[in-house]
Amino acid sequence: MKTIVTIFSVILIIHSPLAQRRRNRIQNSRNSNVPFFGIPTPPPLPPLQIPTLPALPSLPLWQPDQMDIFNSIQFELNKGWAMLEELQNQVLQNLRLPIHDSQRSVEYARPRKPKPQRQQNFYNIYRSLEKSYSGNSDVDELQGTTDDFDGRSLVAPGQYPHMAALGFLTTENRIEYKCGGSLISPYYVITAAHCCQVNGDTPVLVKFGIINLKDENENSEIPQTRIISEVILHPLYNTSLHYHDIALLRLQEPIVFTRFVRPIRLWALDRIPYPHVFTMGYGSTSFAKAPTNILTELDLTLVRLQECNQALPADESAPEGIVETQICAKDYVHNRDTCQGDSGGPLQLNLRRRSNRPGFRFYLVGIISYGEVCGSGSPGVYTRVSSYIDWIASIVWPEDFQNF
Ligand SMILES: *[C@@H]1O[C@H](CO)[C@@H](O)[C@H](O)[C@H]1NC(C)=O
Repeated sequence: MKTIVTIFSVILIIHSPLAQRRRNRIQNSRNSNVPFFGIPTPPPLPPLQIPTLPALPSLPLWQPDQMDIFNSIQFELNKGWAMLEELQNQVLQNLRLPIHDSQRSVEYARPRKPKPQRQQNFYNIYRSLEKSYSGNSDVDELQGTTDDFDGRSLVAPGQYPHMAALGFLTTENRIEYKCGGSLISPYYVITAAHCCQVNGDTPVLVKFGIINLKDENENSEIPQTRIISEVILHPLYNTSLHYHDIALLRLQEPIVFTRFVRPIRLWALDRIPYPHVFTMGYGSTSFAKAPTNILTELDLTLVRLQECNQALPADESAPEGIVETQICAKDYVHNRDTCQGDSGGPLQLNLRRRSNRPGFRFYLVGIISYGEVCGSGSPGVYTRVSSYIDWIASIVWPEDFQNF
């Protein structure tokens, strides 16, 4: 039922008059200086039609028990349609396409090395976040992890519970998942700024807790889908450049933390003392391949900026080269790489928890930003999360941030 409701809501969202009006407004604002996040206007959807059952044949032909059955079918049908109508009304009332805000928290926007105490500042935040989830966080290792994904391995359900898939409204009025993101609090997902304007589309929803995006009969309680209410682009992000490629998405309703959906911690130190990092996505596993739509992960090694600058060719979108607010990483051994469709997803540390506690603790160090043709052997480039820690905290945890 949940899946049906979700699918139905999505269809309604796409076709709702409200979305339509908003689209028109966006189209109309095209000539002014408002940033354009437009979506081509789809044809309007015909109103919901409630089928009428054929009139009953004249009574003498009917046995009394047949009448009862017929009446109860009609009753259930009407009830079903009434529920659908109610659902449609609810969706229409709640629906807004996300608001785009690129001027939020401008005073903290300037990227810089985080103050040394920042990692400690987050301690209480994470402690209370983790208190709100007290389930068992062990993940069964997936048996026989396949290697069918160009050396990337399949992620087990619950293994990376912060991983988000961003759903975009396509011109054909379908939802397509084209970017990744990471859950960092009940209300916020962090992603790449360039994902918030993919081909002029805008992400409208976020899906968590799934391994296969194409799995239509996910009838479990594991996945959680949320509508995006607000897209907050970094104030210094410029669509023609690769710098400050970071954005926050505010969810309309908070995420319920479970074993399968939970936030990742931010790495708030300038130095990343471990060279071994992990990344994942639903995207292609190599250049020009279709996205897998299945969550696969790979591990990479951090590359020093100097080496990275030598390895990457000149790029007019990066006139200053790779700078300190970015991170480079590559796979020296198998030449695996992040690729199309992975953008916005996490680059993270998987640190073993202290002795006799099972599992890992994840820290987000980077956001998948861009690269050469994937697998070309040159490093991929990631936005360095620690450079933006104050901007992020001032939006996601404004009260705590005041006491930082
Ligand atoms: C964005 O970058 C381009 C290329 O450097 C530059 O010409 C343009 O003025 C910048 N736009 C803004 C709004 O800063």
